Amino acid sequence: MSKVRLCAVADIGDQSSEEFDIELGGVRRYVIAVREADQVFVYLDYCPHMGYPEKFVDMRFMCTHSKKFYCAVHGARFNLDDGACTSGPPSGDFLGRFETEVIDGEVYVGDTLTWPGKEKVLAKRQALIDAYKAQAKAREEEEARKRAAGETNG
Ligand code: FES
Repeated sequence: MSKVRLCAVADIGDQSSEEFDIELGGVRRYVIAVREADQVFVYLDYCPHMGYPEKFVDMRFMCTHSKKFYCAVHGARFNLDDGACTSGPPSGDFLGRFETEVIDGEVYVGDTLTWPGKEKVLAKRQALIDAYKAQAKAREEEEARKRAAGETNG
């Protein structure tokens, strides 16, 4: 596994997070780096709830009391240190995580994605896409039926 410099620790506010666009292992990734004092944790910017594409979800918020950070869409809370969702719609699921090391105030990220339950999360995403397509198709068929019958909306 190779490691890539992501940023300086000081580029991330303490008890805060930043988004980055970085190439890891030949793949362009959107990641969020979450900082707690001298520790930094780097996660794939992909909420396991709705399966939105990377970078769509804003997970910048962090609760300094509970040491959790949040998905801004529906409020899921994630552990800072392992990315496990402890409350909210994707409870029990995990964020994808990259191994991270801080050396002399610089943050380095490994190119291997660790993502417990990835298959389950991606299956949920595919189910949502399939349901959306089925709804869109049903709407189109209903509109075509109304046009054929000479019905109008209004
Ligand atoms: S998309 Fe993140 S909690 Fe719903």
